[in-house]
Amino acid sequence: MTEIKTIGVIGAGQMGNGIAHVFAQSGYQVLMQDISEPFAAKGLATIDKNLQRGVDKGKMTADEKTAVLARVRTTTKLEDLAACDIVIEAATEKWEVKKEIFETLDRVCRPGVILASNTSSISITKLAAITKRPEAFIGMHFMNPVPVMQLIEVIRGLATSDATFDAVMDLSRKLGKTPIPCNDFPGFVSNRVLLPMINEAIYALYEGVASVESIDGIMKLGMNHPMGPLTLADFIGLDTCLFILNVLHEGLGDPKYRPCPLLIKYVDAGWLGKKSGRGFYDYSKA
Ligand code: CAA
Repeated sequence: MTEIKTIGVIGAGQMGNGIAHVFAQSGYQVLMQDISEPFAAKGLATIDKNLQRGVDKGKMTADEKTAVLARVRTTTKLEDLAACDIVIEAATEKWEVKKEIFETLDRVCRPGVILASNTSSISITKLAAITKRPEAFIGMHFMNPVPVMQLIEVIRGLATSDATFDAVMDLSRKLGKTPIPCNDFPGFVSNRVLLPMINEAIYALYEGVASVESIDGIMKLGMNHPMGPLTLADFIGLDTCLFILNVLHEGLGDPKYRPCPLLIKYVDAGWLGKKSGRGFYDYSKA
């Protein structure tokens, strides 16, 4: 396996720009792809803003920040990813979108180059089967906000080889993160456990057990969680929460995963959490 020097990242959104950020900060060359120039530019601007937090706190010099940013290049063409030694996909959670991306990447990337997905719930085994290299396919599930969170959930598909797994565990450690492995089942471990808790918090609201503030306050102070479950749901995105719950519900067939009707109603209303300005909380004035 060739030494990994250049990282391809598909998607410049919340997760994609965070992934590009941490690789560039660890000295890797990064090529970040998105479908349009403005999306890519927005991703780059977010990396700039998040690096500036470190400069403001004296953890990084302005020169270091400039050097990190210089290691991130952007493109709108998937074909340009041919130059990369590994590609991590963090595009939108839509099967058709990912299918097209992996078909193209499988065609343009050198044989043996690892293709990874940051998907939060789509089957790694099924994504791997799109390609002719399922042994070199793996899940690298980063947590949001990527520059802050320590975990990378590393998901082995049915055909993932030991060489691919070892290379990704090693790469994750070189990023200063802690990779933890799991097998490929709906929601993996993180979302299999997290989303039922969030869903239950929404049911508690729906059934009038307590207010939004009380539910969050009780869980935050009582369980020592950094955020209450409703704040966290807004932070993740209510559409994403609903998508993951549907994957759990359909994939495992157990009614305990059925999404709360209030969550469905919020998503129908376009109340998607922080990103839309309204979820369980109102962010329009922030
Ligand atoms: N980029 C870089 N740095 C960031 C950042 C970002 N986007 N967001 C926050 N930070 C930094 C801050 O600069 C600050 O740094 P210092 O410690 O050096 O001062 C530190 O993180 C803490 O931030 P704040 O002081 O602003 O705020 P906080 O203490 O309230 O922490 C938080 C914010 C880290 C987001 C914290 O609330 C938290 O850990 N929340 C839970 C996050 C979580 O559960 N994530 C997982 C979501 S699930 C997921 O991602 C998987 C999925 O598939 C759905």
